[in-house]
Amino acid sequence: MSLPSPDPQSRAVVTGASSGIGRALAVELAARGYNLIVAARRGDLLDTLAGEVTDRYGVQVEVRVVDLSDREARGELSDEIAGRNISILCNNAGIATFGAVADLDPAYERAQVELNAVAVHDLTLAVLPGMLERATGGILVTGSAAGNMAIPNNATYAATKAFANTFTESLHGELRGSGVNVTLLAPGPVRTEVPPVQEQSIVDRLVPDALWISNEITARGSLDALAKNRMRYVPGLIGKGLSLAGQFSPRSISAPIAGAFYGKLGAGS
Ligand SMILES: NC(=O)c1ccc[n+]([C@@H]2O[C@H](COP(=O)([O-])OP(=O)(O)OC[C@H]3O[C@@H](n4cnc5c(N)ncnc54)[C@H](OP(=O)(O)O)[C@@H]3O)[C@@H](O)[C@H]2O)c1
Repeated sequence: MSLPSPDPQSRAVVTGASSGIGRALAVELAARGYNLIVAARRGDLLDTLAGEVTDRYGVQVEVRVVDLSDREARGELSDEIAGRNISILCNNAGIATFGAVADLDPAYERAQVELNAVAVHDLTLAVLPGMLERATGGILVTGSAAGNMAIPNNATYAATKAFANTFTESLHGELRGSGVNVTLLAPGPVRTEVPPVQEQSIVDRLVPDALWISNEITARGSLDALAKNRMRYVPGLIGKGLSLAGQFSPRSISAPIAGAFYGKLGAGS
């Protein structure tokens, strides 16, 4: 059940590769020898990434500057990857909002649904026929521990990540034995650098530095889990705790607790 070996014709696609977990996934894939297509809106950061990994690992990197919350722009990338040999797809780009939905910008909330949920669906459906025909491939989706819970003051994010989590784990079951591996990455708090004090959210202040999991460890563990075709990968102790709490505690109890916490987050971020 391993992943397709890198070859000159195939590409591994990473969305949201300009920063954070997506950048670390792109670097780790390059280190493993995969040629890449990296997508996000900030082309300057993607170009820097491409230069770095090409120099260091000798892989080819194609940059796609695209707003994946825009259906038309996303359609161009979907059409492209549907027609190419995509060995691995990392559906990772995502955004989050905090606060009561009624107080948030409706257009941005809609964009969040498009990016975190619909784009995951579109891009997965684009690569799936080719992977099934070749009887090999890997699809990693970055959901979240938040996708296991009802979270007042984080409603759109929690709901879109519930879609990502459930879609991915359902697909994992459908594709068993097909040669196509599907794994959900469902992290708790992940970061590599401690933000400057004035930019810290309440989560940055509340979670001790030692308990944060780095982007690099998350990327390595995710790709190892995908190679083993694990249904779900949750890095770190906090992530595992949140994952268990979200899945096994009644929502009537967990939602008010999570809502109170995220209410502070909305006010503090
Ligand atoms: N870090 C955590 O604690 C954590 C926990 C659970 C889940 N996650 C999930 O992990 C994923 C990566 O998050 P991160 O923490 O690494 O955050 P990040 O550093 O902010 O990365 C988000 C990535 O998504 C891209 N993106 C955002 N809007 C986009 C758009 N409209 N079109 C295309 N790309 C877009 C960003 O690139 P541009 O701005 O250049 O477009 C960036 O590369 C997300 O799905 C997030 O929900 C993160």
